[in-house]
Amino acid sequence: MLESRLRELESRGLAQLENAADRESLEAARVEILGRKGSLQALSREMAIVPADQKALIGRLLNGVKAALEQAYDRRKAAFDKAALDARLEGEWFDLTVPAPGVRPGKLHPLTQIQQELEEYFTSLGFAVMDGPEVETEWYNFDALNIPATHPARDAQDTFWMEQGHVLRTHTSPVQVRAMEKFGAPLRIIAPGRVFRNEAIDASHEHTFYQLEGMMIDRDVSVAHMVYFLKGLMQAIFRREVTVRLRPGFFPFVEPGFELDIQCLICAGKGCAVCKQSGWLEQCGCGLVHPNVLRNGGIDPGVWNGFAFGLGLTRLVMMRYGIDDIRWFASGDLRFLSQF
Ligand code: DAH
Repeated sequence: MLESRLRELESRGLAQLENAADRESLEAARVEILGRKGSLQALSREMAIVPADQKALIGRLLNGVKAALEQAYDRRKAAFDKAALDARLEGEWFDLTVPAPGVRPGKLHPLTQIQQELEEYFTSLGFAVMDGPEVETEWYNFDALNIPATHPARDAQDTFWMEQGHVLRTHTSPVQVRAMEKFGAPLRIIAPGRVFRNEAIDASHEHTFYQLEGMMIDRDVSVAHMVYFLKGLMQAIFRREVTVRLRPGFFPFVEPGFELDIQCLICAGKGCAVCKQSGWLEQCGCGLVHPNVLRNGGIDPGVWNGFAFGLGLTRLVMMRYGIDDIRWFASGDLRFLSQF
């Protein structure tokens, strides 16, 4: 009797365990069949009334049934565990063989890029690149450049005055005088750098901006030489053929003095919003170096002469890239900087 009930429990229990649909029903089946108050336990209590000569046989059967049921439970449970783990791994999977993103390479500021391009252009023509102090003396910034004491540029409105007559240089022109003193004639230099003016700041005015100064001193230097170099400079910046023109312009350190324009690159001279319908874009101040300036640099104007020019590097970069607000330059904004 007990023997057949054990076999019946075995086949029913195995089916129940093996067909459990999920963890919960498997667990419920385990409690019902193998639990302390379960079916197998109930049958094993009946061992007490099994006749002595059958005890060994039934006992072995009981142990065999118990082992078979436990194994069936363990197998099913392992299958559920593996399925759960697989599902988790599937969801959390990532590819360890994909190369790491790495550091994002930095870039040079657009101003630095153009400055370096122009330095290359001019050094290829035999010019030296010079630097000068940003805190200048009144002498180098104004007097030595033939700028009279009454000149409005000296006004506190335009110039940042410092102690003991020092100024934050308002242009790169003082480097002309320092270069003449240092190297004498003949001379070919450019001097890119930061300059400062006490401006009300808006989209086209900053208190700090960049200029590039140039000076060439030799024998019999003419306006034609100057135009040759400046036209080459404009073509190097805008990377195409440009048409230039000179207009008279007054700067105390040159005589004659000019403003150099290029024909508008947008409308080719027809007139548009960028050139304010004039067909021309103002680029830089230039001229033949005033004899007083040569003398102040220790050079004899009876023997030597030369040309000089000064252009707004910041403004040029704005034109080349169509940047509409000067305040982007010092903003440190990566949305701006990463475009160049
Ligand atoms: N220094 C002038 C300025 O800041 C620009 C300039 C004009 C420089 C004529 C020159 C020059 O060397 O010859 O506006």
